[in-house]
Formats: sequence, C-alpha cells, structure tokens
Amino acid sequence: MKIERLDTALGARISAVNLSVPDGLDQAGLRSAWLDHGVLLFHGQNLSPTALVQFSALFGDLEPPPASETGTRDELAGQPVWYISNVVENGKAIGSLGAGEAEWHTDMSYLPEPPTASILFAQEVPHTGGNTSFADMEAAWAAIPDDLCQAIAGRTIHHDSSTTSVGETRRGYDGVSDVREAPGASHPAIRTHPETGRPSLYLGRRRNAWIEGMDLAESEALLDRLWEHCRRPEFAWTHVWQAGDVVMWDNRRLIHRRDPFEASSRRIMLRTQVAGDRPF
Ligand SMILES: [Fe+2]
Repeated sequence: MKIERLDTALGARISAVNLSVPDGLDQAGLRSAWLDHGVLLFHGQNLSPTALVQFSALFGDLEPPPASETGTRDELAGQPVWYISNVVENGKAIGSLGAGEAEWHTDMSYLPEPPTASILFAQEVPHTGGNTSFADMEAAWAAIPDDLCQAIAGRTIHHDSSTTSVGETRRGYDGVSDVREAPGASHPAIRTHPETGRPSLYLGRRRNAWIEGMDLAESEALLDRLWEHCRRPEFAWTHVWQAGDVVMWDNRRLIHRRDPFEASSRRIMLRTQVAGDRPF
C-alpha cells in the first residue's frame, strides 16, 4: 500500500490496494491515514455493492439508508448501501440528490449521533460537473479570527433535519418557517475529535441553522460570517471523479459540497456510512 499526500489542503491518495479483497488490506494503516489526512482517495477500484459493504465495515458498524434516500433498485434491498444518482429507471429515481448543486454540509449532523465516515464509489460519472469539494474544519478553526472565536466559543448550534443538501424538503417533513423550531439535533459549535483529540468547527450546514439562545438576527449574522470564513479556498480540495474512484471522508472533521452537472448525463455513486457517536 502506498500513501501519497495530495498537493492541497487535505487528503491522501492510496494506491497499490484492491479494496474488493478486505482480508488483504492493512486496516490499521488505512485508519491512521484516514485520521491523518481526512479524506482517502482510491483510483481504479471495481466493487460490487456487497464488496463496498465489506470494505466499509472495516471502519465500524454500517448504517442503513435513510428512509428519505432509498431508491428503487431491488438489488440493494436490505443492505446498508444505497445510490446517490440522477438516473431514472421506469419513471423512478434509482437514488437520491438528482443533478443539482449540493451546498456545503457535513453528513447528517441533524441526528443525535451523526456518522463518522461516508464512503462513495463512482460507478458512472458525467464528462463534466458533479465534482465534490472537501474543506478541513480543523484548519478553519485554527485560523479563525479572534472576534469570531470569542463569539462562537461555548455555543451550541441547532441542525435542521427537514431539508436535504440540494434544498429539497425530505419526505415526511414540512418546510421550516422559524429556524428556532426546526426539527433536528443540537451539537457544540466547536467539537473535539474523539480519536485525535483535535478541535474543529462543527457547523453542519448553513440552511435553517440557529445558534441556540441567540437572537435570531445575531445568529444569522454570525453564521454568515462563520461560513464565509470556512469557505476560504485554502481549507479545501476539489475532487474530479473518474469511474472506479472510491473516496472516504471523516464527517467529524470535514464539510463537503457537490457541483451540479448536466441532468441528461448519468452519475451513479454507491454510498455507505459508518455509525458515529454524539459529538462533544
Ligand atoms: Fe453529503
């Protein structure tokens, strides 16, 4: 196994591995590279859904697809793996999130115990668009201006569960008219990584967020400033997908977003995620 740090803010490329043979992998080496670099990229993999599940399970217990993201292909039924895709078969989407832009977010921070790792395997990708960017919230916290640091330290953020990263209201939810009453979960704005001990900003996503106990207008203004800081390019890396890529990232440390792509092209990703603990 070869580990190369990417020439960017975060991430590493792992080569000379075959993820479809989990027994042959250096599990401890992979975990420590993942903790060091935040994102691992593997090119040229050929994984069945079952093989992706077996690889993912090396990193912890897997979670089933969220009820709002189950697709229509029976082949995945009952397995902790699902499609992120814009492809429509027999009049129904096989997966979730369509072809639109997905705004900066960390996965499922609206749950009391958000997932640790998310893993994507690219089966089919469009010629252009659909790139995924990652940004390091440990670096963002380390570089935060003093006034922002003082304003957010010790605060708790409420994370809305009603709306997806592409701005759609989830099945079974109503739209949010007052963010202070949004459904979801609350977490410390600054969290400590349970494995590395390092602090990071934990903002979730901008839409429908609220800094608890703060006047609404003040919360909106502070969140806007925090997000402006976190979106600075020096914290980020953008991945241009090739079919056969596997990307695995740490939701406790990173945010990510997706560029839109041409709706008439096909993008099919298999997705798994590893169960997590309550942030502290
Ligand atoms: Fe996501």
